[in-house]
Amino acid sequence: MTRKIFATTALPYANGSFHIGHIMEYIQADIWVRFQRMQGNEVHFVCADDAHGAPIMLKAESEGITPEQLVTRIGSERKKYLDGFHIAFDNWHSTHSPENTELSQDIYRKLKAAGLIYSKPIEQFYDPVKNMFLADRYIKGECPKCGAKEQYGDACEVCGSVYAPTDLKNPYSTLSGATPVMKTSEHYFFKLSDKKCVDFIKQWLDKPGRLQPQVANKAKEWLEGKGDKALGDWDISRDAPYFGIPIPDAPGKYFYVWLDAPVGYLASFKNYCAKKGIDFEKFLADPKSEQIHFIGKDIIYFHTLFWPAMLHFAGKPYKDPDQINVHGFITVSGEKMSKSRGTGISPLRYLDVGMNPEWLRYYIAAKLNASVEDIDFNPEDFMARVNSDLVGKYINIASRCAGFLKKFDCKLTAGPAHASVENLQKHAGQIQTAYNDREFGHALRMIMSLADQVNQFVNDAKPWEIAKDPGQKQALHQICSQAINAFRLLTLYLKPVMPELARNVEGFLNINSLQWSDASTLLADGHRINEYKHLMTRVEEKQLDALFEIEKDTPKVTASTPHPATPAKSGVPPAPQPAAAGDGTIKIDDFTKIDLRIAKIANAEHVEGADKLLKLTLDVGELGTRQVFAGIKSAYDPATLVGKLTVVVANLAPRKMKFGMSEGMVLAASGEAPGIFLLSPDAGARPGMRVKYI
Ligand code: 2FM
Ligand code: ZN
Repeated sequence: MTRKIFATTALPYANGSFHIGHIMEYIQADIWVRFQRMQGNEVHFVCADDAHGAPIMLKAESEGITPEQLVTRIGSERKKYLDGFHIAFDNWHSTHSPENTELSQDIYRKLKAAGLIYSKPIEQFYDPVKNMFLADRYIKGECPKCGAKEQYGDACEVCGSVYAPTDLKNPYSTLSGATPVMKTSEHYFFKLSDKKCVDFIKQWLDKPGRLQPQVANKAKEWLEGKGDKALGDWDISRDAPYFGIPIPDAPGKYFYVWLDAPVGYLASFKNYCAKKGIDFEKFLADPKSEQIHFIGKDIIYFHTLFWPAMLHFAGKPYKDPDQINVHGFITVSGEKMSKSRGTGISPLRYLDVGMNPEWLRYYIAAKLNASVEDIDFNPEDFMARVNSDLVGKYINIASRCAGFLKKFDCKLTAGPAHASVENLQKHAGQIQTAYNDREFGHALRMIMSLADQVNQFVNDAKPWEIAKDPGQKQALHQICSQAINAFRLLTLYLKPVMPELARNVEGFLNINSLQWSDASTLLADGHRINEYKHLMTRVEEKQLDALFEIEKDTPKVTASTPHPATPAKSGVPPAPQPAAAGDGTIKIDDFTKIDLRIAKIANAEHVEGADKLLKLTLDVGELGTRQVFAGIKSAYDPATLVGKLTVVVANLAPRKMKFGMSEGMVLAASGEAPGIFLLSPDAGARPGMRVKYI
């Protein structure tokens, strides 16, 4: 049975450009949406600018423009980011739109009719110069406990005490400097404390599969009045001047931005439906249709308490949200992202320095799972995963085998599927489940381990050697055809993550757009592919340097010098962290950064033109195969090395050497006296085992 889905990401505030946190969320949702479409499901994927609220109004004022002009300017920037990272929303709209006004007011009227809206006078600080009420963040003063100056209205950063803004001594407005006065105004409330609301939310939260368990638990705590955000009635009105949607029959009152923001999901969808000839109300009324939101962990409160209750008690044509998928934040080299500062990686700079957007999609997908844990962008790890996995394992299959097919007029031959190809087909269901459950990291680990098996098959079959023997033409044709079939299946599985690459592969393979059901088939006997053209390059260190604006004379990325996350546009890289304490000692953390693994030498050979090097192919167990160059030629005959176990530094950023890519380093002892002695573990160690202190 096909699914019918309306999916959204959180609506970004229209007062700033996208930062890497936005892009991560959009990539997560986009992958999931593309995957669902590959299943044949109907998915409508929309977003919009979150245009309202005091910060946008004040920012526009400070720039001497209207809020509408600011929102239009920011909105016009969105496309280059979205197109740049292949994020394919079906519609991008704004909460400052006729649809949103109509829907927000309609929902409000229906809630009022349901007896869930009331008003009461509220006393609040008022700026007599700006002539506006002041949200807590616009009031500062002296801490009532310790007297520290310039403290915000909710808590003291010096002594930690918590208080109300009215407790501040000598309060002032941060907008004008004026001393605020207390003023009363009528405010409108959504009666969330009503038993029917609480009962509804409780059962809504409990539906299996709707929320991640930790999200449901947090929301239940709030609902039960525990924790930092106990549930009360919700103040949904703000007084003029405010950039927002007018509240019906309440002159000078506007909806608080968080009321109309989620309604913006529906407004964008309605706007899209009108363009596409879809019946908006009919879609929502269909019991089969699903409304799914992707959001960050900072806005769980609004999406799991207010939003479902608003929709539920507004009644038809609205429907309860079916699923809220929450993700964590993205840090860059361990540094926390700030929503407003947007530090870390500039998404536009990433594109401007010529980095491939699909590297980032792949890397983010590899790190994501269905939990709300934060993920970290680490430049060395990024380079290793893209270069070793994506290019070294996946692209490598096509680049090593496609050329030989020219001997066969680029036509494939069918034959018994190799075990590694069969295995790829057998995993279609497991990979499908992982994608569906947003376990992208798990899906990619499975895919890369299947790619390892295919590479092993190619390594063993050695088409480059067989090609020299005219008597083995048929075998060569078989091997390369199998490898191409494997490459097609791997592409299919990677397509939600790398849609552009998949499109290029479809062109190369001369096939229709891959769908999930294609996993059960192989390319037919005689199918003609096109000539192979290089599909993806490796990440280069200089690109990462450019991304982080690292000057040429600053230390390069090495295993022990983390890439500093340069604050955007500062142009001054922070000093690298010292790796050692200054007396030559290192911390345990420095040591544990090195991923040492047992490796089995699967192959060893001389390198033409190299005096000191041997090329080793290492089997590193769960990490797959690695190619390394080791300066041990003077001490070892390659033939004696094959089958030996040794130790490899597995998380060294791959390096491009004159003779090829080196994806790690093996460890050996040497001293003043001649001789190089490769390290080897005691009997019983297995490829892939970690070498650590015990
Ligand atoms: O936190 C934010 O960036 C909000 N603009 C998210 C709104 S999501 C939805 F409710 F619109
Ligand atoms: Zn204090």
